[in-house]
Amino acid sequence: MGKLYIEGGKPLAGKIEISGAKNSAVALIPAALLADGPVVIENLPRIQDVEIYTEILRDMGAELLWEDDWIEIDGRSLRTTTMPNGRVKKLRASYYLWGALLGKCGEVSVGLPGGCDLGPRPVDLHIKGFQALGARVENKNGMLSLKAERLRGARIYLDLVSVGATINIMLAAARAEGVTVIENAAREPEIVDVATLLNNMGANIKGAGTDVIRIEGTDRLRGCRHTIIPDRIEAGSYMILAAAAGADIVIENVIPKHLESVSAKLREIGAEVSEGDDSIHVIGRTKYRPVDVKTAPYPGFPTDLQQPMTTLLTQVKGSSIITDNIYASRFRHVDELRRMGAAIKVEGRSALIDGGAKLVGAKVVATDLRAGFALVIAGLISNGVSEIDGVQHIERGYENLVGKLQGLGASVWKEAGEASNVTRRKTINGTQLDA
Ligand code: EPZ
Repeated sequence: MGKLYIEGGKPLAGKIEISGAKNSAVALIPAALLADGPVVIENLPRIQDVEIYTEILRDMGAELLWEDDWIEIDGRSLRTTTMPNGRVKKLRASYYLWGALLGKCGEVSVGLPGGCDLGPRPVDLHIKGFQALGARVENKNGMLSLKAERLRGARIYLDLVSVGATINIMLAAARAEGVTVIENAAREPEIVDVATLLNNMGANIKGAGTDVIRIEGTDRLRGCRHTIIPDRIEAGSYMILAAAAGADIVIENVIPKHLESVSAKLREIGAEVSEGDDSIHVIGRTKYRPVDVKTAPYPGFPTDLQQPMTTLLTQVKGSSIITDNIYASRFRHVDELRRMGAAIKVEGRSALIDGGAKLVGAKVVATDLRAGFALVIAGLISNGVSEIDGVQHIERGYENLVGKLQGLGASVWKEAGEASNVTRRKTINGTQLDA
């Protein structure tokens, strides 16, 4: 497991450039397979989730050319609809291949997904959606087999607001016969990003970003070019870092509207937050007010920032509460923060934080990417050196983590010899060229 070392207490300031959204990229890459021609996706973050996805598609025979921050995907050379278990298990978002391959080939057989450690993460809503579109579903010894001679549009009500199910159903419905209406759909910006790509390919999708999405299936989808939206969770992570460190940081290449709930909460605590056209300027303070935070589906406060926000609240004198209404067990960062001196108690879905504790550097473990970033913030604001084991979890969703932090003045480094962020790779249909 790779280790990240942080010497805390360094003054931080400056600008940081946000990368393309991870939670868009992992849906746009499989979506590109639906086109009967090459699709170019730009502003692609160089992170491990993207690397795993490209390896899965290469295994399947898709033609990929990946240069710097763009990738060209041509699904016409796909030679199988069956997924090898290995890579799929490393990436929960590989489930988007179900919708994409069902829509493209009428069948897919894939190992049940693995992914990060956030407790049980069911996929029943995805399956319900595919069945409503006419797919037969079989679970044969851990492999999921989906088949449909012809997908037919349907009206689907999602019992729970689910980002993954909303996108997956949209992918399958894009080439189904007739009209599909998804009700109680998730409204995350990444869903709008995927709908924008599909519509640029010739699909007919209306209402993405609202809780009712109408998809009129089309026979053919063509290649096109698409630029990924900025990563609002990466941006929010660095906004929270600025507030926690009492730093003056400008976060560039963002869509401020996507971060309204985060900006509002940081202002409520007492940080100064101002918005430019495509940037957000955060000036952290040393005196804050304790607050209650409740996560909710977009446009509410994102569950993905619950863990970084917990670290900030350990610095706010008084009692704060943070409640995760999306995941019941997203608190594995709490034990690690306690090792650094935080006073936090978990009760049910809430963390009760007795703020104001001075944190000290310690050896801690990152269990998932957002818990990992919570520990990065803690390491940066504590006295002494911290060692964070499991840096590869963090690098799944934070491009050039070390470089971006060093750019702000942080004293941070990785264990010598560790594979750093995904290096640039030129890959043409499986032949790896020199970088
Ligand atoms: C997406 O996961 C994100 N991942 C997660 O970000 C994010 O935390 C989550 O949405 C919520 O915003 C990607 O986009 C790749 P859901 P997803 O379906 O789609 C339950 C990160 O840190 N549910 O919206 O898997 C589920 O258990 C990651 O970048 C069902 O019950 O989440 C959860 O309680 C972590 N049945 C709630 O719905 C289902 O079939 C929301 O999950 C599907 C979901």
